Amino acid sequence: MMIRDIVIYPDKRLKEISKPVEKFDESLHQLLDDMYDTMIAKNGVGLAAIQIGVPLRVLIINTPLDVDSDDPKEQQPKENTLEVINPKILKVGGKTKYQEGCLSVPGYFEEVNRYKDVTIEYQNRYGETFIIEDDAFLAIALQHEIDHLDGKIFVEKLSIVKRKKFEKEWKKRAKK
Ligand code: CO
Repeated sequence: MMIRDIVIYPDKRLKEISKPVEKFDESLHQLLDDMYDTMIAKNGVGLAAIQIGVPLRVLIINTPLDVDSDDPKEQQPKENTLEVINPKILKVGGKTKYQEGCLSVPGYFEEVNRYKDVTIEYQNRYGETFIIEDDAFLAIALQHEIDHLDGKIFVEKLSIVKRKKFEKEWKKRAKK
């Protein structure tokens, strides 16, 4: 397992539309394991494969547990990782707003409009199909990560005013 470099905005790879996974083999498992190590090392709760430069429809989410420990591997044990491959959104409903961040836009957080309820179909690392429904944090995280697979990131969902402000701040920061 290995910690990989995160692709940082505005890298063009973040606009790529990721391709479906066809082989559920050792190289997919390696990718998923590296994604977990990378997410933990960078203090993330979710990661899409394109964020480490791999344009495949693969994402992981690991919601931190409320445990009395500073060790990220105890807060986000590997066995709690939701590994989502080739997700399809089956149903959405309701509306909500959520303060989001992204490992590809480090240090920036902003409120984004999302659906409240989401039902998706996906495959696990062995190619088995599952359906998951959620109306809380996981629903938000799934929408954020599935957007990555379609070449979209959360700052594109901001209002024009907020987006302009963001781009200005981001350019200023990049110069430092
Ligand atoms: Co993200």
